[in-house]
Amino acid sequence: SWSMSSFVETCIEDLKRQVGDDKVVLGLSGGIDSTVAAVLLHKAIGRNLHCIFVDNGLLRMGEREEVIGFLAEHFDLNVKVVDAADEFLGKLKGVTDPEKKRKIIGYTFIDVFDREAKNIDGVKFLGQGTLYPDVIESESFKGPSAVIKSHHNVGGLPETMNLELVEPLRELFKDEVRRAAYELGLPEHIIWRHPFPGPGLSIRILGEITEERLQILRLADRIVQNELIASDWYRKVWQGFAVLLPLKTVGVMGDGRTYENVIALRIVDSIDAMTADWTRLPSEVLARMSNRIINEVQGVNRVVLDISSKPPSTIEWE
Ligand code: XMP
Repeated sequence: SWSMSSFVETCIEDLKRQVGDDKVVLGLSGGIDSTVAAVLLHKAIGRNLHCIFVDNGLLRMGEREEVIGFLAEHFDLNVKVVDAADEFLGKLKGVTDPEKKRKIIGYTFIDVFDREAKNIDGVKFLGQGTLYPDVIESESFKGPSAVIKSHHNVGGLPETMNLELVEPLRELFKDEVRRAAYELGLPEHIIWRHPFPGPGLSIRILGEITEERLQILRLADRIVQNELIASDWYRKVWQGFAVLLPLKTVGVMGDGRTYENVIALRIVDSIDAMTADWTRLPSEVLARMSNRIINEVQGVNRVVLDISSKPPSTIEWE
């Protein structure tokens, strides 16, 4: 009978056969899919797997350390961390249009990834954490790997390298990836991590992206994450996060008038992200999030709750 442990074993054997003594390059995003793909490949080919983690400067607080630290310590993965924050933020300067943000981030990611991949001598394969639903519905998948995929399809990525694809998860659904992750001994914080969009915090900062606004959103978002975990709601919701709005409102603090930013809370239930509904969180949980954000995050004096479903609204605000 089919079990996850036999999937893992068979998968590793298949990868050994497919890749042989060649090298694989893989973009680690910090999400569960690319992480499981990386660990499977690592078990199959060891140091011939070259992971690239691009820090685009749009990650949540502590994200890079959480993901890379764990993988490097426990799995001896070969990971190159590329700090490309200045490059991304430079190109995003002054940009407010959501689609422009997405395009800039997609192309910059490819530039950075290509550059790094070309430094690896004799690499033959591109590893990806593509899942079965992505395979059958690759149109609807919008992550950076989708950009790579289409890029790969049209011209070959990187152009001069002619890489073959290796996709260990292409027969799995999301819940099966989580089971494989358990089987492989990955920690809960990776297994249950909410989906996080490729363009990162840029599409949760409405308007211009600046270091200062990134900092405000990071602090507010960390409170949302912490309170979801502390109240045992983190695993029950599909995604929960903060959004920084492009406007200021009046408030009062002590004897003084304030004129500061608004944070929106977006917390939703969903099965597959195609439809979603706002989570009916207990009001005490919402109250704690709101109080903490207003008290602890300098520059925020108001918190609002998004009570829209998808459709017609989307999960992300941009
Ligand atoms: P929407 O906002 O379209 O989001 O309802 C559906 C799901 O997809 C995620 N999302 C993205 N993921 N790149 C990604 O990798 C993107 O550009 C992107 N936009 C949205 C979103 O977080 C939600 O899980």
